[in-house]
Amino acid sequence: MHQSSSSLLILILFVFSTIINGHQYTFDWKKLPKVNHLLEKFTNETNTPCLIAGIRVGDLNGGWVEWTGSFGSYADIENNIRCSSQTMLKVASVSKAIGSALIARLVEQGKLSWDLDISHYIPKDLFPKKTYANKTVNITLRQLITHQSGIRHSNDKDFMHDWEFRIKNSTQLLSWFADDPLLFEPGHGYHYSNNGWSLIGAIVESIENRPYHLVLEDFMRNIIGMPSATSESRDHLIMNHGQQYRIVDGNVLPPNIVDILRPYPHWPAGGVVARIEDLLIYGQQMLSSYNSFQSNGKSILKQSTINEMWNYHNSNVSINEETMKIFNEIIHKIKFRYVMGWQRRDFPTDIQHKHFSILNELYYLSHTGEIGSANAKLAIFPTFNFTFAIITNRGSLKNHMDRLAIETLYYLFS
Ligand SMILES: *[C@@H]1O[C@H](CO)[C@@H](O)[C@H](O)[C@H]1NC(C)=O
Ligand SMILES: *[C@@H]1O[C@H](CO)[C@@H](O)[C@H](O)[C@H]1NC(C)=O
Ligand SMILES: *[C@@H]1O[C@H](CO)[C@@H](O)[C@H](O)[C@H]1NC(C)=O
Ligand SMILES: *[C@@H]1O[C@H](CO)[C@@H](O)[C@H](O)[C@H]1NC(C)=O
Ligand SMILES: *[C@@H]1O[C@H](CO)[C@@H](O)[C@H](O)[C@H]1NC(C)=O
Ligand SMILES: *[C@@H]1O[C@H](CO)[C@@H](O)[C@H](O)[C@H]1NC(C)=O
Repeated sequence: MHQSSSSLLILILFVFSTIINGHQYTFDWKKLPKVNHLLEKFTNETNTPCLIAGIRVGDLNGGWVEWTGSFGSYADIENNIRCSSQTMLKVASVSKAIGSALIARLVEQGKLSWDLDISHYIPKDLFPKKTYANKTVNITLRQLITHQSGIRHSNDKDFMHDWEFRIKNSTQLLSWFADDPLLFEPGHGYHYSNNGWSLIGAIVESIENRPYHLVLEDFMRNIIGMPSATSESRDHLIMNHGQQYRIVDGNVLPPNIVDILRPYPHWPAGGVVARIEDLLIYGQQMLSSYNSFQSNGKSILKQSTINEMWNYHNSNVSINEETMKIFNEIIHKIKFRYVMGWQRRDFPTDIQHKHFSILNELYYLSHTGEIGSANAKLAIFPTFNFTFAIITNRGSLKNHMDRLAIETLYYLFS
């Protein structure tokens, strides 16, 4: 039994056009039923108990309009609680994209530096000076936030430490990997690492003298203006908190133990719980800063900061090429690189898509969140002034998140 409901925050059915690379794209709310159908069909086909999606778009006149929809039947199957736009779910690694704005703001304020060795912030007894190929090396915040530090990713064993003692902050996580060898010389490779983000959390704790997740909670609430986002912890209740599920051979099951433990100590890498509105507001704030709309100095970040973060490229690290299936067309040679706190994808500039002209020279910044029992995505399309977000309460949907974002963009703009 599946139901869906959707809501338009601002009930003006409007249309506007924008010109990108010589093409005119017309945004039209009348096309929303197509998006609704896309997401409802996807929810049905994947047997997702609860999927919530939303968009927020700048209308060129200083206004923003939003649509959110909830699909599937249950935020909590066992207690018969319906899925709705108010449902709070884990955003998993989308927490990294949110945290990156906090870090960038601390850099703007002069409290942190992208390029200083981390021993400026972390005493050597907590995290020793590292070597690679018998050479002492520096590790920087910039390398941590781009996953170029060479610090290994977390493994399931790391999460089990929480059975032994109660973790209060990110600094306490360092001992889990502090003595492990680097995988490559910092700045000379890419290896996605939750532990790298634990180190970022510890760096923030060293200057703020408070646990990272509490610093982030204040930032999300007071600076970004997210109405309900918080960190998952054993110190408070979370209202409207949906359950997470895993689907095995078509059966809906509770999450694995590791998924229950995971968010608590790993706040910087993935501890945020949010409803869809929170992610959309964050997307708008990033777009506003990027386009420097607010002349009153109220942007959360400087335009130059976002430019640096979203365009970062280290020539020592190769750019990957990806393939994506959009509608029924296979698109090759999509360039993927991890910039500062975000995943960036650039569509090829030498292929002109007849059916999908919107893909010509398209680029976007996004972050995927994935654990065994939750998937999330926040995607920002700067040229379209467009944010798409999705949260779900089951795992293994990661490979569909990007196409859903792009197909939604396509439906609304062409
Ligand atoms: C989704 O499933 C429901 C219930 O089976 C059905 O009524 C609805 O038409 C389906 N929607 C789509 C788009 O397939
Ligand atoms: C994006 O939307 C905002 C808010 O409506 C508007 O002020 C701005 O001009 C738009 N920018 C672009 C590049 O479309
Ligand atoms: C490493 O950091 C120290 C300061 O902590 C600095 O003096 C040194 O130049 C850095 N080395 C490199 C190779 O960047
Ligand atoms: C590091 O030093 C040790 C001992 O001097 C030597 O055996 C080893 O080959 C060196 N490793 C590299 C990668 O240079
Ligand atoms: C790229 O590698 C060279 C040679 O090791 C080094 O000098 C340079 O700093 C590296 N660039 C970055 C961004 O790490
Ligand atoms: C982190 O927790 C440890 C152990 O309880 C404590 O000693 C330390 O002061 C805490 N640091 C921060 C920044 O909360």
